[in-house]
Amino acid sequence: MALRTIRIAGDPVLEKTCREVKEITPRLRELIADMFETMYEGSGVGLAAPQVGVLKRIAVIDCTGEDPITLINPVIVETDGEQTGDEGCLSLPGKAGQVTRPMHVVVEALDENMEKIRIEGEELLARALCHEIDHLDGHMYMEKVEGELHDVVYEEEAEEGEEG
Ligand code: NI
Repeated sequence: MALRTIRIAGDPVLEKTCREVKEITPRLRELIADMFETMYEGSGVGLAAPQVGVLKRIAVIDCTGEDPITLINPVIVETDGEQTGDEGCLSLPGKAGQVTRPMHVVVEALDENMEKIRIEGEELLARALCHEIDHLDGHMYMEKVEGELHDVVYEEEAEEGEEG
């Protein structure tokens, strides 16, 4: 495994629509492992392939540090409710802003073995699912921010925030 370089907002690769994955390959398995490592290193809860420069519909999420989820070709099939809260992104370090997302989402996707999975997410997981799937269509959360972005100060004891 290896850390990958995270693309920063303004990089055109973050504005592209990603392609569907047709088959899993050793190279894609390595990409997924690297994405997890890169996400954990950045203390994020999610990371999408375009953030490491790969235009494929792959995202990884782990909201607790113990629930790694690999999503290939994910699609939101249900949403319910609403939540407004701070959101950040590893592609815009040190910033966050208020974004309204569904409180509950259901996503259908393939896992790293190309098996169908169905993920139900509430609260932070619902937010992360929406955020990462937006990345696969070239969208970043700043497009949805209500009000101004604000600076996030990271301290060792501070909660990590919600970066994806
Ligand atoms: Ni993000």
